[in-house]
Amino acid sequence: MDFEIFYGLNGVHFDKSKIASIDGLNGELIYRGYDIRELAIDATFEEVVYLLWYAELPKKAELEKFTADLRSRYKIPEGVIKVLRELPKDTHPMHAIRTGISALASFDKQADDLEMDNIHRIGSKLVAQFPAIVAAFYRIREGKEIIEPDETLSIAANFLYMFNGEKPSQAATHVMDTALILHAEHGSNASAFVCRATASSLTDVYSAVTAAMASLKGKLHGGANTAVMKALEEISSVAGVEDYVLKTLSMPGGRVMGFGHRVYKVLDPRAVILKKVSHNLAEESGDSKWFEMSVEMERVMDLEMDKKGKQIKPNVDFYSASVYRMLGFPGDMYTPIFAVARISGWMAHLYEQYANNRLMRPRLVYEGQRGLKFKAVSER
Ligand code: ACO
Repeated sequence: MDFEIFYGLNGVHFDKSKIASIDGLNGELIYRGYDIRELAIDATFEEVVYLLWYAELPKKAELEKFTADLRSRYKIPEGVIKVLRELPKDTHPMHAIRTGISALASFDKQADDLEMDNIHRIGSKLVAQFPAIVAAFYRIREGKEIIEPDETLSIAANFLYMFNGEKPSQAATHVMDTALILHAEHGSNASAFVCRATASSLTDVYSAVTAAMASLKGKLHGGANTAVMKALEEISSVAGVEDYVLKTLSMPGGRVMGFGHRVYKVLDPRAVILKKVSHNLAEESGDSKWFEMSVEMERVMDLEMDKKGKQIKPNVDFYSASVYRMLGFPGDMYTPIFAVARISGWMAHLYEQYANNRLMRPRLVYEGQRGLKFKAVSER
């Protein structure tokens, strides 16, 4: 029998959703009806989390209540810190954070309760505690003291504070908010799909989010931002960019990280905003090297892809690399920072998935042998 196979599930719609819409031909991303270009500049991360979860922007009192609830959950269990301390210091940060998130389940007596109120409680807890887990692992491996969360600070400000040990400026907090908003949600991307597919067996939220973390780590997905910075560091000058791109593209299957997207055939709107942010940071800090190298890489890629007739443009991971660099984050922490934002989108998907669940169970076309007869090991 002939079956149509959709490699990489390309073009497959597996459910309906009201969370986000991506227009890949016009370069538009919408969260619950609102254009990302407005949200990224004017909203806070907390407002966007509320919007993603409850389908409308919060009124003042609703936002205050929501924010206060998140802040009351900032602190992570001591047992999770102990787990992080036990890990070798050179553990890949995504292995460490994924382990920390998974360990949270052991300290939650209601981890397996799938009542919607409880799922929302866990969602708020995870959004509140991802930043603390990322910051704690970073400071442990650097041999620094862990900074307790500050409940007077927003998620963006508190994350910068716990990470660097200094209260951030308003400008840095605004950039962090913008980055978190832009990375919060993106439809049925690989990790959100994995999250929903895992939950579809009616396993618990922690398990689904742990699986999503595992997916995000890959360099074709969230791991690309770390790979972009690694490339920029290796190249180390604007003059070296062209050679690097040509050499990479000349290798079989060679890909320049931070470029290309399954859905966008034009520039990713998140990259447009992050490019501006990166430019501003470069001007303010006087350290324009990373921005200039990125612009050069975009120029060379445009030229090379034009020659091949391909639409391979920068994606969200490309300019976020120079932005995070100028905020002072080390390259291998970029994907965990992506996760600090994306947990909000994963939870929005889990609310939809658990509310209207059907086990995800696709098929494979079998092409192997048939009719073989078993022989005892002594006869093989
Ligand atoms: N550099 C060079 N060529 C590329 C790139 C790239 N970054 N991306 C795609 N191409 C080429 C492929 O070689 C392929 O060429 P071919 O048709 O001649 O074989 C063509 O474009 C289509 O590529 P596919 O892999 O089929 O596209 P797909 O939709 O499966 O992949 C992906 C999308 C995985 C994002 C891809 O563009 C890629 O590997 N990019 C680099 C990694 C990256 O930046 N990932 C982050 C994505 S955004 C996110 O997840 C947050």
